[in-house]
Amino acid sequence: MKKIVVSTGAGISAESGLSTFRDSGGLWDKYPVMDVASLDGFMRNPALVHEFYNQRRREALKCQPNAGHLGLKELEQWFDVRVITQNVDNLHEKAGSTHVLHLHGELMKIRSMKREDRVYTLTPDNLETSVDTRDEYGDPVRPHIVFFQEAVPNFEKAVEWVREADIFVVIGTSLNVYPAASLLMYVRPGTPIYYIDPNPAKIPMGAENVTIIKKKAGEGVPELVELLRSQL
Ligand code: OAD
Repeated sequence: MKKIVVSTGAGISAESGLSTFRDSGGLWDKYPVMDVASLDGFMRNPALVHEFYNQRRREALKCQPNAGHLGLKELEQWFDVRVITQNVDNLHEKAGSTHVLHLHGELMKIRSMKREDRVYTLTPDNLETSVDTRDEYGDPVRPHIVFFQEAVPNFEKAVEWVREADIFVVIGTSLNVYPAASLLMYVRPGTPIYYIDPNPAKIPMGAENVTIIKKKAGEGVPELVELLRSQL
């Protein structure tokens, strides 16, 4: 089976009702990014950061995968599909994708501030956390999110996948945030690359063989599925 590696960003979840970050009216217009998504911000005002992610969780819970997420699941019938996502929602998992790697953490998880290997999954009826929340050992917890100023623990694994890709697909990301944006650089020369985004960013120098599908994920992904099937 050929290996398709897909790198997704906030755009793939937009049609499910979740705001992107940098489009106008996006999340970073409403909240100062360095207050709610950086390590400094969390140290300065942890209560605000807890509340920001409580709100994100409440929103995400109402959302369902769209034709973009579902199309990637469908591809598993013919390809070995690996999804690397910058998104913290769980819509790829809800769509049924089997191999999903989260680069920036997961909204529905929290972890101990004392031992980062102690990770807990929240349930829909218990998804709020605060500065007073304690884990089973009595230690304070934090969102299981990769804040700005923190390392991206899953990046090496992501690079490993990208290096093995026969086809590489980028969907709904402004290619602004590193190291996620640099994944393109690890694609083997000659590998076909598809980029689905209604407002695609400039492709970094060095990436070749890129086909841009200037459409929303809900339309562009089913189109790509048809195209890739027709080439089997
Ligand atoms: P951005 O908000 O920077 O970019 C969203 C991209 O999605 C843009 O290129 C839009 O054109 C595109 N888009 C909008 N609607 C779409 C649709 N229906 N279908 C397909 N594409 C669409 O989001 P990211 O690039 O994902 O990190 O942002 C990267 C990281 O920045 C996030 O993971 C987050 C943020 O700070 C953390 O919070 C750690």
